[in-house]
Amino acid sequence: MTATMTIPVSQPDISELERKNVQSAMDSTWISSSGSFVNSFEHRFADLHGTLSCLSVSNGTAALHLALLGCEIGPGDEVIVPSLTYVATANAVKYCGAEPVFVDVNQEDWNMNCEQVKDAISNRTKAIIVVHLYGMPAEMSRLRTIADQYGIFLIEDVAEAPFATRDGTMTGTVGDVSTFSFFGNKVITCGEGGAVVTNDPEIAARMKLLRSQGMDPNQRYFFPVIGYNYRLTNVACAILDAQLDRLEEMLNRRQRLFSRYEQALSGLDVGLQMSNKNITVCPWLFPLLITQGENTRSSIIKKLREQGIDTRPFFYPIHRLPMYTAARTCGSLPITNQLANWGMNLPTSSAFTDSETDYLIAQVERAFRQ
Ligand SMILES: Cc1ncc(COP(=O)(O)O)c(C=O)c1O
Repeated sequence: MTATMTIPVSQPDISELERKNVQSAMDSTWISSSGSFVNSFEHRFADLHGTLSCLSVSNGTAALHLALLGCEIGPGDEVIVPSLTYVATANAVKYCGAEPVFVDVNQEDWNMNCEQVKDAISNRTKAIIVVHLYGMPAEMSRLRTIADQYGIFLIEDVAEAPFATRDGTMTGTVGDVSTFSFFGNKVITCGEGGAVVTNDPEIAARMKLLRSQGMDPNQRYFFPVIGYNYRLTNVACAILDAQLDRLEEMLNRRQRLFSRYEQALSGLDVGLQMSNKNITVCPWLFPLLITQGENTRSSIIKKLREQGIDTRPFFYPIHRLPMYTAARTCGSLPITNQLANWGMNLPTSSAFTDSETDYLIAQVERAFRQ
């Protein structure tokens, strides 16, 4: 049987408002990295996080690199990161000449294990990067206490979980610096883009300098340091500004799809994300665990693909990638290995039509129940 529809794992939600803003940026001729949309987006995003500063940047990887440089991480330093994350989290550490040290995640929330973080701290440790994986906010109060106790930086990688809350605290508001991605599969997007937010004026100033080729803010075309071109354009910020206007509507639509998945999968032997009244996840790409193992996961992925539905297996553990096999890890990271074998993400977007959603849910029920 041939599939009657094609559903990507994610789809950007672009409305008339995004088009209107882009047209207005074009009409103004401010299409490079200055302009009213850059200012508007950066101010609004900083306000949403209650931070002194927000810098828009070219992508989430650049955001991580700038965050680390803003904390003056360099050669000889170690940074503690989870192994179960997108590869950019660890790569950014290497860009600085520092070494990532990998820790395991918790069985419950799939986020970095605080006990292991403490065990991994050495006299070279300069920072922790906590990743709020697959929309789930991590235990920020414990991590903040650990970072303060050892006098090291705490960086939040919020790429997959903007606007999630745990115990009344929103992601991106506790770290010394927090980083965001606006890639096409993210909850808000401008195609390629990112942001860094911080309350520390010195970190903010260093990141601002480095974002723009290291040009001295008081002397044009004098470059006291080697910087980067990590700026984002006014056209991209025009899209982001519209996405912020539509944020609530888009999150609600994604949340409704999450509820339908939960209903469709209820009573089945699958592992869902931890849930309790103190946690509001970010409805990014619906994650679940196929606890029967990798073969069953492959057959479900295949069945859905045959019906035109794209899915994603969880990330491959970074400590097992060729360039990181010699990196220091905190033990053998058994939970990371297990989740990587069992986990998958189902398509999620606020742009899916009602008939696409109905088709998707019917096919998911069929693939999991037969
Ligand atoms: C956890 C995490 N960190 C960083 C990134 C990198 O973001 P970008 O693709 O915008 O460079 C991603 C993205 O895809 C991510 O999922």
